[in-house]
Amino acid sequence: MNENLHQLVCIGCGARIKGAEAQPDFRCVTCGELFEVEYPGWKEKKGPERPLAGALKWLWRERRASHEALDHSGVWRFRELLPILDSFGNVVSLREGNTPLYHLPRAAKALGIDQLFAKHQGMNPTGSFKDTGMTSALSVAKERGFEWVACASTGNTSAAMAAYAARAGLKSLVLIPEGKIAWGKLSQAMDYGAVTCQLNTDFDGCLSLLTEIVKQAPIYLLNSVNPYRLEGQKTPAFEIAEAFDWNVPDHVIVPGGNLGNSSALGKGFREMLELGLIARMPKISVIQAAGANPLAMAFARDNGMTMEPVEAHTRATAIRIGNPASWRKAARVIQETGGWCLDVSEGEIAVAKAELGTEGLGCEPASAVTLAGLKKLVAKGVIKSSETVVLVLTGHTLKDADYTIDFHRGTLLEEAECKGLETEIGKLRRNAVVVEATSAAVLGAMKGLTA
Ligand code: F0G
Repeated sequence: MNENLHQLVCIGCGARIKGAEAQPDFRCVTCGELFEVEYPGWKEKKGPERPLAGALKWLWRERRASHEALDHSGVWRFRELLPILDSFGNVVSLREGNTPLYHLPRAAKALGIDQLFAKHQGMNPTGSFKDTGMTSALSVAKERGFEWVACASTGNTSAAMAAYAARAGLKSLVLIPEGKIAWGKLSQAMDYGAVTCQLNTDFDGCLSLLTEIVKQAPIYLLNSVNPYRLEGQKTPAFEIAEAFDWNVPDHVIVPGGNLGNSSALGKGFREMLELGLIARMPKISVIQAAGANPLAMAFARDNGMTMEPVEAHTRATAIRIGNPASWRKAARVIQETGGWCLDVSEGEIAVAKAELGTEGLGCEPASAVTLAGLKKLVAKGVIKSSETVVLVLTGHTLKDADYTIDFHRGTLLEEAECKGLETEIGKLRRNAVVVEATSAAVLGAMKGLTA
């Protein structure tokens, strides 16, 4: 590990340790909190280790035309801001990152916002934002000589981990809640050769069991409690800033599950601000499903100072998490940037996902909470029409095709969940119709006569 350049700082008691001194569960031995990667050399304004903003911007742009494999990764293209490895020769990459930023003209018009964009992290190699964090943390596992890596997952982390482990020739162990993850994700873990255990518990139960297991065997834990995951996951913040020519958008809206992603993006923007790459932070808001909303409840109660776990229920299975590990980090990001934390209903999620579909952008239900949340923030009057908004779409639509089909068939939502949304749902539903194999029947279907 590159001990000279980075250290781990506990977000609870401020203890500082070397990377190699971290416990297998990445918890602080003194206070039990999580660590964050810190680069002490960046603090000294004229210090030799402090990256220079202007030079970085130039270098990162140049790398886009490079033929080097490392430069093709949208994570390692920014490697000066993640010096966590002794040798970049240990990088395990699937050319992650460099994801598209799409304009959303229809949603923008409907909401009266001029500039609305989606940063589609579902366009990563395994179809979710997890790849950006997996390339960084799994590279650390490889460099440190681990043979086994493991994660608890609602599906996407396991798909990403299994793929990167396979690339690196490492063995991987996946713990998932039985029957509560989308098939697309389970199929990925199986295909990439993970030992996949479906447990009769929820995500939170899987993670606490794994925390015990990694203390008993030399297995490298790859959940987002691992601070090296967040180093990779901060890089979409760099991409967003770069796409806006280093003038950051006013708002970035992120789904919240275990709350690693919002923490990571906040860290990315904070580091850019400290290094002079950008002049201000965007307001970062986190949206949860109403049935899995411990952070939204915490913000409603005492502005995110304390969090009570909940029993989680939502069809957005990726964010079906009741006791998020990184809640303190995420709460700090929301507080320091002046963002919000809200929850949205099952009906609102389904409508928002279908609306994104009408823009030609598929995504997972968990990703669609961002648009549903944006509507609420606009209705509250806290996002103005002149402001620029980026929604972070976290997963690919094909991860959970069942959800989409059920919505369009009209079998997804209970009647009570549709209340007040009947008109929108009616306009958005496009069930596949069975018609006779004649041109008249097909032309009739086009006119909506048989629908
Ligand atoms: N969106 C998707 C598609 C996810 O898979 C997840 C988390 C989130 C949002 C929430 O991100 O946890 O960083 O707040 N999925 C994890 C998993 C928990 O196991 O795949 P978060």
